[in-house]
Amino acid sequence: MAKHLKIAPVSSLKGEITVPGDKSISHRAIMLGALGSGETVIHNFLNSADCIATANCFREMGVNIEVFRCSSCNVDKVKIVGKGLFGLSKPGKILDAQNSGTTIRLISGILAGQNFESDITGDLSIQKRPMKRIAEPLKMMGAEIEGLGVGAGIGSEVYAPLKIIGKKLKPIEYKLPMASAQVKSAILLAGLYAEGETIVIEPVPSRDHTERMLAYVGVDLTRFGNKVSITGGQEFEGRDIHVPGDISSAAYFIIAGLLVSNSDIVIKNVGTNPTRDGIFEVLHRMGANFEVKDEELVSGEPRASLEIRNSKLEIGNLKGIEIGGELIPKIIDEIPIIAVLATQAEGVTVIKDAKELRVKESDRIKTVISELSKMGAKIEELPDGMKIYGSTKLKGANIQSYGDHRIAMSMAIAGLVADGETVIDDVDCIETSFPGFKKLLKELTS
Ligand code: S3P
Repeated sequence: MAKHLKIAPVSSLKGEITVPGDKSISHRAIMLGALGSGETVIHNFLNSADCIATANCFREMGVNIEVFRCSSCNVDKVKIVGKGLFGLSKPGKILDAQNSGTTIRLISGILAGQNFESDITGDLSIQKRPMKRIAEPLKMMGAEIEGLGVGAGIGSEVYAPLKIIGKKLKPIEYKLPMASAQVKSAILLAGLYAEGETIVIEPVPSRDHTERMLAYVGVDLTRFGNKVSITGGQEFEGRDIHVPGDISSAAYFIIAGLLVSNSDIVIKNVGTNPTRDGIFEVLHRMGANFEVKDEELVSGEPRASLEIRNSKLEIGNLKGIEIGGELIPKIIDEIPIIAVLATQAEGVTVIKDAKELRVKESDRIKTVISELSKMGAKIEELPDGMKIYGSTKLKGANIQSYGDHRIAMSMAIAGLVADGETVIDDVDCIETSFPGFKKLLKELTS
Protein backbone atom coordinates (compact mmCIF):
# COMPACT_ATOMS: atom_id res chain seq x y z
CA MET A 1 0.00 0.00 0.00
CA ALA A 2 1.36 3.38 -0.95
CA LYS A 3 1.92 5.49 2.16
CA HIS A 4 0.26 8.79 2.97
CA LEU A 5 1.62 11.86 4.71
CA LYS A 6 -0.29 13.97 7.23
CA ILE A 7 0.66 17.62 7.53
CA ALA A 8 -0.58 19.97 10.23
CA PRO A 9 -0.03 23.75 10.17
CA VAL A 10 3.15 24.93 11.97
CA SER A 11 4.03 28.20 13.69
CA SER A 12 7.72 28.38 12.76
CA LEU A 13 10.55 26.50 11.01
CA LYS A 14 14.02 26.78 12.47
CA GLY A 15 17.38 25.13 11.91
CA GLU A 16 20.46 24.57 9.80
CA ILE A 17 20.08 21.76 7.29
CA THR A 18 21.56 20.22 4.17
CA VAL A 19 19.47 18.67 1.43
CA PRO A 20 20.44 15.46 -0.43
CA GLY A 21 22.77 15.53 -3.42
CA ASP A 22 21.67 16.91 -6.75
CA LYS A 23 19.72 14.38 -8.78
CA SER A 24 20.80 15.53 -12.25
CA ILE A 25 24.47 15.63 -11.23
CA SER A 26 24.30 12.24 -9.44
CA HIS A 27 22.93 10.55 -12.58
CA ARG A 28 25.66 12.06 -14.73
CA ALA A 29 28.37 11.15 -12.23
CA ILE A 30 27.37 7.48 -12.46
CA MET A 31 27.32 7.65 -16.26
CA LEU A 32 30.67 9.37 -16.69
CA GLY A 33 32.17 7.22 -13.92
CA ALA A 34 31.12 4.13 -15.88
CA LEU A 35 32.48 5.46 -19.20
CA GLY A 36 35.74 6.81 -17.80
CA SER A 37 38.67 4.53 -17.12
CA GLY A 38 39.80 3.80 -13.58
CA GLU A 39 38.15 4.74 -10.33
CA THR A 40 35.54 7.44 -9.75
CA VAL A 41 34.39 8.29 -6.25
CA ILE A 42 31.15 10.25 -6.01
CA HIS A 43 30.72 12.16 -2.75
CA ASN A 44 27.26 13.20 -1.53
CA PHE A 45 25.60 10.99 -4.15
CA LEU A 46 21.81 11.15 -4.16
CA ASN A 47 20.96 7.65 -2.98
CA SER A 48 17.40 7.76 -4.29
CA ALA A 49 15.33 5.41 -6.41
CA ASP A 50 15.98 7.38 -9.63
CA CYS A 51 19.77 7.43 -9.30
CA ILE A 52 19.92 3.81 -8.17
CA ALA A 53 18.02 2.93 -11.36
CA THR A 54 20.86 4.55 -13.33
CA ALA A 55 23.48 2.63 -11.30
CA ASN A 56 21.62 -0.64 -11.89
CA CYS A 57 21.54 -0.09 -15.66
CA PHE A 58 25.35 0.22 -15.71
CA ARG A 59 25.79 -2.73 -13.34
CA GLU A 60 23.79 -4.71 -15.88
CA MET A 61 26.34 -3.64 -18.51
CA GLY A 62 29.24 -4.99 -16.46
CA VAL A 63 30.26 -1.93 -14.43
CA ASN A 64 31.21 -2.40 -10.80
CA ILE A 65 29.37 0.19 -8.70
CA GLU A 66 29.35 0.18 -4.91
CA VAL A 67 27.14 2.52 -2.91
CA PHE A 68 28.29 3.23 0.66
CA ARG A 69 26.01 4.72 3.26
CA CYS A 70 27.77 6.85 5.83
CA SER A 71 25.45 6.39 8.80
CA SER A 72 27.08 9.04 11.00
CA CYS A 73 27.09 11.82 8.41
CA ASN A 74 24.11 10.66 6.35
CA VAL A 75 26.07 11.34 3.19
CA ASP A 76 26.36 8.64 0.58
CA LYS A 77 29.41 7.76 -1.44
CA VAL A 78 29.75 5.70 -4.59
CA LYS A 79 32.81 3.91 -5.93
CA ILE A 80 32.82 3.03 -9.63
CA VAL A 81 35.42 1.10 -11.54
CA GLY A 82 35.00 2.61 -15.00
CA LYS A 83 35.13 0.46 -18.11
CA GLY A 84 36.35 3.14 -20.50
CA LEU A 85 34.34 4.52 -23.39
CA PHE A 86 34.22 1.21 -25.25
CA GLY A 87 34.07 -1.21 -22.32
CA LEU A 88 30.35 -1.70 -21.65
CA SER A 89 28.97 -5.18 -22.23
CA LYS A 90 25.62 -6.18 -23.70
CA PRO A 91 23.03 -6.29 -20.92
CA GLY A 92 21.58 -9.71 -20.12
CA LYS A 93 18.10 -8.28 -19.61
CA ILE A 94 15.92 -5.24 -20.32
CA LEU A 95 17.38 -2.16 -18.64
CA ASP A 96 14.93 -0.57 -16.20
CA ALA A 97 14.90 3.20 -15.74
CA GLN A 98 11.97 2.88 -13.29
CA ASN A 99 10.45 6.39 -12.90
CA SER A 100 13.46 8.29 -14.20
CA GLY A 101 13.33 10.30 -17.43
CA THR A 102 16.98 11.31 -17.05
CA THR A 103 18.00 7.63 -16.85
CA ILE A 104 16.16 6.45 -19.94
CA ARG A 105 16.93 9.45 -22.14
CA LEU A 106 20.62 9.89 -21.31
CA ILE A 107 21.41 6.18 -21.33
CA SER A 108 19.70 5.86 -24.72
CA GLY A 109 22.32 8.28 -26.06
CA ILE A 110 25.06 5.99 -24.75
CA LEU A 111 23.36 2.82 -26.01
CA ALA A 112 23.09 4.34 -29.49
CA GLY A 113 26.87 4.19 -29.83
CA GLN A 114 27.47 0.65 -28.57
CA ASN A 115 28.27 -2.37 -30.72
CA PHE A 116 25.33 -4.30 -29.27
CA GLU A 117 21.55 -4.29 -29.22
CA SER A 118 19.69 -3.46 -26.01
CA ASP A 119 16.25 -2.71 -24.62
CA ILE A 120 15.41 -0.07 -22.03
CA THR A 121 12.09 0.69 -20.36
CA GLY A 122 10.66 2.09 -17.14
CA ASP A 123 7.51 2.18 -15.03
CA LEU A 124 4.03 3.02 -16.34
CA SER A 125 4.70 6.76 -16.06
CA ILE A 126 7.92 6.49 -18.11
CA GLN A 127 6.09 4.38 -20.70
CA LYS A 128 3.74 7.33 -21.29
CA ARG A 129 6.44 9.97 -21.66
CA PRO A 130 7.60 11.17 -25.11
CA MET A 131 10.77 9.55 -26.45
CA LYS A 132 10.66 10.77 -30.05
CA ARG A 133 12.66 13.80 -28.89
CA ILE A 134 15.69 11.52 -28.36
CA ALA A 135 14.87 8.80 -30.91
CA GLU A 136 14.86 11.29 -33.79
CA PRO A 137 18.34 12.80 -33.37
CA LEU A 138 19.87 9.45 -32.36
CA LYS A 139 18.46 7.88 -35.53
CA MET A 140 19.92 10.77 -37.55
CA MET A 141 23.27 9.79 -36.04
CA GLY A 142 22.77 6.28 -37.42
CA ALA A 143 21.39 4.26 -34.49
CA GLU A 144 18.31 2.10 -34.96
CA ILE A 145 15.67 2.89 -32.34
CA GLU A 146 12.21 1.49 -32.11
CA GLY A 147 9.55 2.44 -29.58
CA LEU A 148 7.74 -0.75 -28.65
CA GLY A 149 5.20 0.86 -26.32
CA VAL A 150 1.78 2.35 -27.04
CA GLY A 151 2.16 4.95 -24.30
CA ALA A 152 -0.37 7.76 -24.33
CA GLY A 153 -1.27 6.74 -27.91
CA ILE A 154 -0.36 10.04 -29.55
CA GLY A 155 0.11 9.60 -33.33
CA SER A 156 3.75 9.46 -34.34
CA GLU A 157 5.14 9.72 -30.77
CA VAL A 158 7.69 7.10 -29.64
CA TYR A 159 7.15 5.31 -26.33
CA ALA A 160 9.25 2.95 -24.18
CA PRO A 161 10.15 0.10 -24.12
CA LEU A 162 12.85 1.21 -26.54
CA LYS A 163 14.83 -1.22 -28.64
CA ILE A 164 18.18 0.33 -29.49
CA ILE A 165 20.56 -1.17 -32.03
CA GLY A 166 23.86 0.58 -31.45
CA LYS A 167 25.86 1.63 -34.51
CA LYS A 168 29.03 3.43 -35.53
CA LEU A 169 27.59 6.92 -35.19
CA LYS A 170 28.01 9.88 -37.47
CA PRO A 171 28.06 13.42 -36.08
CA ILE A 172 25.10 15.77 -36.59
CA GLU A 173 24.33 19.41 -36.11
CA TYR A 174 21.00 19.45 -34.32
CA LYS A 175 18.65 22.28 -33.36
CA LEU A 176 16.66 21.18 -30.32
CA PRO A 177 12.93 21.76 -30.82
CA MET A 178 12.54 22.36 -27.06
CA ALA A 179 14.83 23.42 -24.20
CA SER A 180 15.61 20.01 -22.75
CA ALA A 181 18.80 19.10 -20.94
CA GLN A 182 17.87 15.44 -21.23
CA VAL A 183 17.72 15.59 -25.02
CA LYS A 184 20.83 17.78 -25.26
CA SER A 185 22.72 15.37 -22.98
CA ALA A 186 21.58 12.26 -24.89
CA ILE A 187 23.01 13.77 -28.09
CA LEU A 188 26.26 14.90 -26.43
CA LEU A 189 26.79 11.45 -24.90
CA ALA A 190 26.10 9.83 -28.28
CA GLY A 191 28.51 12.44 -29.67
CA LEU A 192 31.29 10.83 -27.61
CA TYR A 193 30.89 7.84 -29.96
CA ALA A 194 30.50 9.72 -33.25
CA GLU A 195 33.31 10.14 -35.75
CA GLY A 196 33.75 13.90 -35.84
CA GLU A 197 32.09 16.96 -34.32
CA THR A 198 28.52 16.80 -33.00
CA ILE A 199 26.83 20.16 -32.49
CA VAL A 200 23.69 20.84 -30.42
CA ILE A 201 21.91 24.18 -30.59
CA GLU A 202 19.33 25.02 -27.92
CA PRO A 203 16.42 27.44 -28.30
CA VAL A 204 17.18 28.75 -24.79
CA PRO A 205 19.79 27.43 -22.36
CA SER A 206 18.87 24.37 -20.30
CA ARG A 207 20.82 22.94 -17.36
CA ASP A 208 24.46 22.40 -18.34
CA HIS A 209 25.60 19.72 -15.88
CA THR A 210 26.60 17.32 -18.66
CA GLU A 211 28.83 19.91 -20.29
CA ARG A 212 30.40 20.91 -16.97
CA MET A 213 31.07 17.33 -15.93
CA LEU A 214 32.48 16.33 -19.32
CA ALA A 215 34.86 19.31 -19.11
CA TYR A 216 35.71 18.42 -15.49
CA VAL A 217 36.79 14.87 -16.46
CA GLY A 218 38.92 16.31 -19.27
CA VAL A 219 36.75 15.99 -22.36
CA ASP A 220 37.33 18.84 -24.76
CA LEU A 221 34.04 20.50 -25.67
CA THR A 222 33.22 23.96 -26.96
CA ARG A 223 30.39 26.12 -25.68
CA PHE A 224 29.39 29.33 -27.36
CA GLY A 225 26.04 30.96 -26.65
CA ASN A 226 23.37 28.31 -27.08
CA LYS A 227 25.70 26.03 -29.06
CA VAL A 228 27.68 23.08 -27.68
CA SER A 229 30.01 20.92 -29.72
CA ILE A 230 31.87 17.76 -28.88
CA THR A 231 34.29 15.63 -30.86
CA GLY A 232 33.85 11.88 -30.62
CA GLY A 233 36.35 9.29 -29.51
CA GLN A 234 37.76 11.20 -26.53
CA GLU A 235 38.66 8.72 -23.81
CA PHE A 236 38.88 10.10 -20.25
CA GLU A 237 39.76 9.02 -16.74
CA GLY A 238 37.54 8.83 -13.67
CA ARG A 239 37.86 11.64 -11.08
CA ASP A 240 36.41 12.28 -7.66
CA ILE A 241 33.13 14.14 -8.01
CA HIS A 242 31.61 16.14 -5.16
CA VAL A 243 27.87 16.61 -5.65
CA PRO A 244 26.23 19.75 -4.22
CA GLY A 245 22.82 19.68 -2.54
CA ASP A 246 19.93 19.75 -4.99
CA ILE A 247 18.49 23.25 -5.48
CA SER A 248 15.20 21.63 -6.55
CA SER A 249 15.00 19.89 -3.16
CA ALA A 250 16.14 23.02 -1.32
CA ALA A 251 13.31 24.92 -3.03
CA TYR A 252 10.69 23.24 -0.80
CA PHE A 253 12.41 24.50 2.34
CA ILE A 254 13.27 27.93 0.93
CA ILE A 255 9.60 28.48 0.18
CA ALA A 256 8.45 26.86 3.42
CA GLY A 257 10.76 29.29 5.26
CA LEU A 258 9.24 32.23 3.40
CA LEU A 259 5.64 31.15 4.01
CA VAL A 260 5.74 30.08 7.64
CA SER A 261 6.04 33.13 9.88
CA ASN A 262 8.95 33.41 12.34
CA SER A 263 11.15 31.06 10.38
CA ASP A 264 14.91 30.98 10.33
CA ILE A 265 16.44 28.38 8.03
CA VAL A 266 19.99 27.95 6.77
CA ILE A 267 20.55 25.44 3.95
CA LYS A 268 24.23 24.63 3.44
CA ASN A 269 25.99 23.45 0.26
CA VAL A 270 23.21 24.00 -2.25
CA GLY A 271 24.07 23.84 -5.96
CA THR A 272 23.69 27.30 -7.52
CA ASN A 273 24.44 26.50 -11.15
CA PRO A 274 23.20 29.56 -13.12
CA THR A 275 21.16 27.30 -15.43
CA ARG A 276 19.25 26.04 -12.38
CA ASP A 277 18.98 29.08 -10.11
CA GLY A 278 15.94 30.78 -11.65
CA ILE A 279 14.14 30.42 -8.33
CA PHE A 280 16.34 33.22 -6.95
CA GLU A 281 15.17 35.59 -9.68
CA VAL A 282 11.54 34.60 -9.08
CA LEU A 283 11.87 35.19 -5.34
CA HIS A 284 13.63 38.54 -5.76
CA ARG A 285 10.95 39.75 -8.14
CA MET A 286 8.17 38.59 -5.79
CA GLY A 287 9.81 40.58 -3.01
CA ALA A 288 11.03 37.68 -0.85
CA ASN A 289 13.82 38.08 1.64
CA PHE A 290 16.70 35.59 1.51
CA GLU A 291 20.46 35.51 1.12
CA VAL A 292 22.89 33.46 -0.95
CA LYS A 293 26.27 33.27 0.82
CA ASP A 294 29.77 31.81 0.58
CA GLU A 295 29.60 30.70 -3.05
CA GLU A 296 32.41 28.36 -4.14
CA LEU A 297 33.16 26.13 -7.14
CA VAL A 298 33.56 22.41 -6.39
CA SER A 299 34.00 19.73 -9.08
CA GLY A 300 33.06 22.28 -11.72
CA GLU A 301 29.74 23.24 -10.10
CA PRO A 302 28.98 26.31 -7.93
CA ARG A 303 27.44 25.88 -4.50
CA ALA A 304 26.44 28.25 -1.69
CA SER A 305 24.60 28.57 1.62
CA LEU A 306 21.07 29.92 1.60
CA GLU A 307 19.60 31.88 4.50
CA ILE A 308 15.87 32.39 4.79
CA ARG A 309 14.71 34.58 7.64
CA ASN A 310 11.15 35.63 7.85
CA SER A 311 8.93 37.56 10.17
CA LYS A 312 5.16 37.79 9.83
CA LEU A 313 5.34 41.24 8.22
CA GLU A 314 7.30 40.06 5.18
CA ILE A 315 4.76 37.50 4.02
CA GLY A 316 2.30 40.28 3.27
CA ASN A 317 4.92 41.89 1.01
CA LEU A 318 5.04 39.10 -1.56
CA LYS A 319 3.56 40.12 -4.88
CA GLY A 320 2.39 38.22 -7.97
CA ILE A 321 4.59 38.40 -11.07
CA GLU A 322 4.74 37.16 -14.67
CA ILE A 323 7.12 34.26 -15.27
CA GLY A 324 8.04 32.99 -18.75
CA GLY A 325 10.62 32.87 -21.54
CA GLU A 326 14.24 31.98 -20.80
CA LEU A 327 13.52 31.72 -17.09
CA ILE A 328 11.32 28.63 -17.50
CA PRO A 329 14.06 26.00 -18.09
CA LYS A 330 15.90 27.41 -15.05
CA ILE A 331 12.91 26.69 -12.78
CA ILE A 332 11.23 23.85 -14.63
CA ASP A 333 11.20 21.46 -11.66
CA GLU A 334 10.38 24.21 -9.14
CA ILE A 335 7.17 25.42 -10.78
CA PRO A 336 4.82 23.34 -8.56
CA ILE A 337 6.33 24.82 -5.38
CA ILE A 338 6.48 28.30 -6.93
CA ALA A 339 2.74 27.92 -7.61
CA VAL A 340 2.23 27.24 -3.90
CA LEU A 341 4.12 30.45 -3.05
CA ALA A 342 2.07 32.39 -5.62
CA THR A 343 -1.17 31.46 -3.82
CA GLN A 344 0.17 33.50 -0.88
CA ALA A 345 1.35 36.51 -2.90
CA GLU A 346 -0.82 39.57 -3.47
CA GLY A 347 -2.10 39.86 -7.04
CA VAL A 348 -1.82 37.67 -10.11
CA THR A 349 1.07 35.36 -10.94
CA VAL A 350 1.19 34.20 -14.55
CA ILE A 351 3.34 31.23 -15.50
CA LYS A 352 3.65 30.83 -19.28
CA ASP A 353 5.93 29.19 -21.90
CA ALA A 354 5.93 26.11 -19.69
CA LYS A 355 4.10 23.50 -21.75
CA GLU A 356 6.96 21.05 -21.03
CA LEU A 357 5.25 20.70 -17.63
CA ARG A 358 2.62 18.59 -19.35
CA VAL A 359 5.11 15.77 -20.04
CA LYS A 360 6.81 15.46 -16.65
CA GLU A 361 6.14 12.68 -14.10
CA SER A 362 2.54 13.95 -14.26
CA ASP A 363 0.91 16.70 -16.34
CA ARG A 364 2.04 19.26 -13.77
CA ILE A 365 -0.21 22.02 -15.11
CA LYS A 366 -3.26 19.84 -14.45
CA THR A 367 -2.06 18.24 -11.20
CA VAL A 368 -0.90 21.49 -9.57
CA ILE A 369 -4.20 23.16 -10.45
CA SER A 370 -6.44 20.30 -9.34
CA GLU A 371 -4.68 19.79 -5.98
CA LEU A 372 -4.17 23.46 -5.06
CA SER A 373 -7.81 24.14 -6.02
CA LYS A 374 -8.89 21.48 -3.50
CA MET A 375 -7.13 23.62 -0.87
CA GLY A 376 -9.06 26.72 -1.93
CA ALA A 377 -6.51 28.36 -4.26
CA LYS A 378 -7.81 30.31 -7.22
CA ILE A 379 -6.00 29.09 -10.33
CA GLU A 380 -6.79 29.05 -14.04
CA GLU A 381 -5.29 26.72 -16.60
CA LEU A 382 -3.42 28.14 -19.60
CA PRO A 383 -2.31 25.96 -22.53
CA ASP A 384 1.31 26.55 -21.50
CA GLY A 385 1.03 27.35 -17.81
CA MET A 386 -1.34 28.79 -15.24
CA LYS A 387 -2.67 31.98 -13.69
CA ILE A 388 -2.77 32.17 -9.90
CA TYR A 389 -4.85 34.77 -8.08
CA GLY A 390 -3.51 35.53 -4.60
CA SER A 391 -3.53 35.71 -1.82
CA THR A 392 -5.86 32.99 -0.59
CA LYS A 393 -5.98 31.36 2.82
CA LEU A 394 -5.48 27.67 2.06
CA LYS A 395 -7.45 24.97 3.82
CA GLY A 396 -6.38 21.41 4.58
CA ALA A 397 -7.62 18.78 2.10
CA ASN A 398 -7.15 15.24 0.87
CA ILE A 399 -4.51 15.45 -1.81
CA GLN A 400 -3.40 13.07 -4.57
CA SER A 401 0.26 12.97 -5.59
CA TYR A 402 -0.43 11.24 -8.94
CA GLY A 403 2.78 9.35 -8.19
CA ASP A 404 4.70 12.60 -8.82
CA HIS A 405 7.29 13.42 -6.14
CA ARG A 406 7.25 17.15 -6.84
CA ILE A 407 3.46 17.34 -6.45
CA ALA A 408 3.62 15.38 -3.17
CA MET A 409 6.30 17.66 -1.65
CA SER A 410 4.80 20.92 -2.93
CA MET A 411 1.45 20.05 -1.42
CA ALA A 412 3.11 19.09 1.88
CA ILE A 413 4.58 22.61 2.07
CA ALA A 414 1.17 24.10 1.20
CA GLY A 415 -0.23 22.09 4.12
CA LEU A 416 2.12 23.88 6.54
CA VAL A 417 0.23 27.15 6.02
CA ALA A 418 -3.28 25.74 5.54
CA ASP A 419 -6.09 25.72 8.09
CA GLY A 420 -6.57 22.19 9.40
CA GLU A 421 -4.93 18.95 8.38
CA THR A 422 -3.72 18.04 4.88
CA VAL A 423 -3.40 14.37 3.95
CA ILE A 424 -1.33 13.52 0.89
CA ASP A 425 -1.86 10.08 -0.62
CA ASP A 426 0.73 7.98 -2.38
CA VAL A 427 3.88 9.64 -1.08
CA ASP A 428 6.28 6.75 -1.75
CA CYS A 429 7.22 8.67 -4.90
CA ILE A 430 9.10 11.21 -2.75
CA GLU A 431 11.87 8.59 -2.57
CA THR A 432 12.66 9.14 -6.25
CA SER A 433 14.36 12.45 -5.48
CA PHE A 434 14.26 13.30 -1.77
CA PRO A 435 14.78 10.48 0.70
CA GLY A 436 14.48 11.96 4.21
CA PHE A 437 12.09 14.78 3.20
CA LYS A 438 9.66 14.02 6.00
CA LYS A 439 12.42 13.68 8.61
CA LEU A 440 13.95 17.01 7.62
CA LEU A 441 10.58 18.73 7.82
CA LYS A 442 10.13 17.32 11.30
CA GLU A 443 13.61 18.48 12.33
CA LEU A 444 12.76 22.05 11.34
CA THR A 445 9.52 22.08 13.29
CA SER A 446 10.83 20.60 16.54
C1 S3P B 1 16.76 16.94 -16.15
C2 S3P B 1 16.24 17.81 -17.09
C3 S3P B 1 14.86 18.33 -17.02
C4 S3P B 1 14.28 18.18 -15.63
C5 S3P B 1 14.51 16.81 -15.06
C6 S3P B 1 15.99 16.52 -14.96
C7 S3P B 1 18.14 16.45 -16.32
O1 S3P B 1 14.05 17.60 -17.92
O2 S3P B 1 12.91 18.48 -15.65
O3 S3P B 1 13.95 16.71 -13.77
O4 S3P B 1 18.69 15.87 -15.38
O5 S3P B 1 18.69 16.65 -17.42
P1 S3P B 1 13.96 17.99 -19.49
O6 S3P B 1 15.27 17.78 -20.11
O7 S3P B 1 12.90 17.07 -20.05
O8 S3P B 1 13.54 19.42 -19.52
